[in-house]
Amino acid sequence: MKYLVDTANIEMIEKCTDLLPIAGVTSNPSIIKKEGKIDFFAHFKKIRQIIGKDRTLHMQILAECSDGILKEAHTILDKVDKNVFIKVPTTPEGLKAMRLLKKEGVGVTATAIYTKTQGLMAMEAGADYIAPYFNRMENLDIDAADTIATFSDMIAAYGYSTQILAASFKNIAQVNTAFRCGAQTATVGPDILLAAFAVPSIKKAVDDFAADWQKVFGDVSICD
Ligand code: E4P
Repeated sequence: MKYLVDTANIEMIEKCTDLLPIAGVTSNPSIIKKEGKIDFFAHFKKIRQIIGKDRTLHMQILAECSDGILKEAHTILDKVDKNVFIKVPTTPEGLKAMRLLKKEGVGVTATAIYTKTQGLMAMEAGADYIAPYFNRMENLDIDAADTIATFSDMIAAYGYSTQILAASFKNIAQVNTAFRCGAQTATVGPDILLAAFAVPSIKKAVDDFAADWQKVFGDVSICD
């Protein structure tokens, strides 16, 4: 089970990777828009530098035809890092591009997945990760939990090496459901991850422990 952060914000990536067990970073053009008109390649090279080689970086292309997808993928691989996972929307052209990229040994993350057929086809195309859009599915009355469970069952039944990278979350309960249904990885906004620890009872417990220690030992710390 691995958590990734779904952001292109440098400060948040630094904070989350410093504090939490984070396995990687994902982005898409809408996430990048929040950062304004950044120097695209310099920004992502910086993110790669922050997260190091042991965490995965997933960057999305914009082209819609397979030729264009390949061209953009090669540009990202040249200008950021050859180990970037290329996020490709799971359209028919995208599926063609995924197969071609996999023939070249490029890491592929199949994204914009709303249906079982998209995910299953992406597995067949050799995608390393498939990204079902949990909250967006729920908004459409599509059963996100059942979709992820189906992907998990098919991966086990047929021995695909594809991992489920569940995405598009609006709260931490959705993330937990995705993991329970078999997602090996999930990409989550930093605000949602950090909010999971902003429970008043957690703070109260920590404060109570400190107060009880203080009553007995005063200002003498464990280290004194
Ligand atoms: C992954 O990076 C997806 O693109 C992302 O989680 C989509 O999230 P959204 O539904 O909040 O736009």
